[in-house]
Amino acid sequence: MSEIVKGRILKINILRFDPNEPKILPHMETFEIEEAYGMTLYIVLNMIREHHDNSLMFDFVCRAGICGSCSMLVNGRPTLACRTLTSKLDENISLAPLPLFKLIKDLSIYTGEWMRYLNEHLETWIHDQEQELNVDKLEERMDPDLADEIYELDRCVECGCCVAGCGTIQMRPNFKGAVGLNKVARYHLDPRDKRTDEEYYELVGDDDGVFGCMTLLGCEDVCPKDLPLQSKIAYLRRMMIKTAIKN
Ligand code: SF4
Ligand code: SF4
Ligand code: FES
Repeated sequence: MSEIVKGRILKINILRFDPNEPKILPHMETFEIEEAYGMTLYIVLNMIREHHDNSLMFDFVCRAGICGSCSMLVNGRPTLACRTLTSKLDENISLAPLPLFKLIKDLSIYTGEWMRYLNEHLETWIHDQEQELNVDKLEERMDPDLADEIYELDRCVECGCCVAGCGTIQMRPNFKGAVGLNKVARYHLDPRDKRTDEEYYELVGDDDGVFGCMTLLGCEDVCPKDLPLQSKIAYLRRMMIKTAIKN
């Protein structure tokens, strides 16, 4: 990796394609941008759009690694553009949309459809089994260490990087991926969620869930939020095996 070199000319090679104009085949387009101190790929993309080609499409909302919108392949590796400093990269940089998600245009993808299906399927909300809402009820106390552990997993921004970096999803389109397994681990840890181990087994106790995971950990390598995906997948696997033996 190179150090910051003042005035470096970056060659940004971007995969261009608009599914609504299939006659124009996918092709790479190169833009030259002078590097500045502290520059991120998000800044680079905005400069390209402002000074070279205003038809370039890419997604962003927060510019701070919080919304998960700007995920893309940077030199073939899934990551967030707004959190990637150009100083950490060589002059030749290739950008492409994340695979597996619906392509809107250029670097813009639609992760929402995939994530919505996942959240609905895994029912990623607290199941407290109370029939009626009681606004006067005191919030249940929670051990601070456990609250921290749950918060750690809640930091997932649904960017899709772990999905794009997962070999199993390429072969099993219904595989829940690290993002889904992480969410299940999060709710299983939460004492307010009253689902039984057997109910969780129904959700991810098969080859589209935790038993399909090959544990090669591409997901943890690329997660821009550094979530402990490895230990949570192992946690779920242990829990699923115990449940299977018990029954
Ligand atoms: S687990 Fe990490 S890589 Fe996967 S969607 Fe969440 S933040 Fe992104
Ligand atoms: S460890 Fe499992 S979830 Fe993570 S990339 Fe590999 S197969 Fe996918
Ligand atoms: S713009 Fe929100 S994570 Fe990059």
